[in-house]
Amino acid sequence: MSKPRVEKLRTLKTIAETLNQGHDVKVTLDEVLKELLSLTGLQSGWIFLIDREGSYTLAADAYLPPALSHKQNVLMCEGDCYCLNKFRNGSLTRAANIMNCKRIELAEQLNCFDTEGITHHATVPLEGGGRSFGLLNVAAAGKTLFDEDELHLLEAVAFQIGTAIQRMKLAEYEQKNALLMERNRLAQDLHDSVNQMLFSVSLTAKAAKSLTKDKTLQDMIDFIQTLSQDALAEMKSLIWQLRPEGLEKGLPSAVKSYGTLIGLTVNVKQTGSLSSLSDEQELMLWRIVQEALNNCKKHAGTDTAYVNIASRGKQIELEVIDHGSGFCAEAHDGLPSLGIKGMKERAETSGGRFAIHSELGAGTVISVSLPLSEQKGRKM
Ligand SMILES: Nc1ncnc2c1ncn2[C@@H]1O[C@H](COP(=O)(O)OP(=O)(O)O)[C@@H](O)[C@H]1O
Ligand SMILES: [Mg+2]
Repeated sequence: MSKPRVEKLRTLKTIAETLNQGHDVKVTLDEVLKELLSLTGLQSGWIFLIDREGSYTLAADAYLPPALSHKQNVLMCEGDCYCLNKFRNGSLTRAANIMNCKRIELAEQLNCFDTEGITHHATVPLEGGGRSFGLLNVAAAGKTLFDEDELHLLEAVAFQIGTAIQRMKLAEYEQKNALLMERNRLAQDLHDSVNQMLFSVSLTAKAAKSLTKDKTLQDMIDFIQTLSQDALAEMKSLIWQLRPEGLEKGLPSAVKSYGTLIGLTVNVKQTGSLSSLSDEQELMLWRIVQEALNNCKKHAGTDTAYVNIASRGKQIELEVIDHGSGFCAEAHDGLPSLGIKGMKERAETSGGRFAIHSELGAGTVISVSLPLSEQKGRKM
């Protein structure tokens, strides 16, 4: 076997081994990219993942020159370039030489940082499951052309990477699905057991009341009935929270339905598009609105709430407002009330900010501001 052929096989074997061990897409792509560069003697590499709408994310990068990596890779995360355009218009079906990279050109024009001799790059589509979903790009100082052999090797590596990404995404999806199934099962169990029992307690109390004329006993039975009805209402809301049905129709619609469920009129106002919200961010906001509306129903003494959701630049702003009794927020600071604490933790874990303003007799405003994902590439 010729030497280049043996080397090519060794490269493919090493990369396949790394990919087979990977579970996390980001970590694995970072590792495999470094490995590819070291095995081929190339200098820099980066991987774009591209969604069905054509928006891209810089999923991995290795040894980018300062001209491309300065300010946390800003040049690699914003705007479009030739390879992305070729990908989107369907003309990139195999590995290709990109003669002029718009990002490198821009870096040269800015002339602030070193390009380390990189002027061109090769680009290869990442494919898996019959769909193209990304680009593998590699470059080296002074290298203006990749020969057929090099392009073939890159194609084989890209094929391996594409298949591995599909496998990891599938495993991630299965995990999420298993979690959802478990929550659904729990919701169903709660509905079939505790919920039905509480309903029976309420009915039995009603029947018991009609069997006695004793006023004290009647009052006690009334109390049992009220308690069991409150518990039923709490259970209903818990079950709904376990199965966030309706979110598939979007946050505003889910919020309105939830209001109806707990007996609250909710005026929802949406400003701007919410399409840049990730599923996780949407679910997080949904949980916060649920708790805020629960509080409004339980504590504010009003049956109307206002929910404003606005997309402004790179931020999503959420407000839940009521004109109810209000409370002294400072007095609750440090107290073990899980609702407000949970809302704050949820917002902050997703990189957002949470604030609560309340005034006795005037009402309460919950606000959350959440940065939209920085890494999500915007189309020019
Ligand atoms: N919208 C509201 N209107 C009036 N009081 C509120 C409101 N939200 C919260 N509170 C007060 O803050 C307390 C803490 O809320 P929370 O942390 O959600 O705990 P919980 O709802 O379990 O009592 C409540 O018990 C209530 O006194
Ligand atoms: Mg609460």
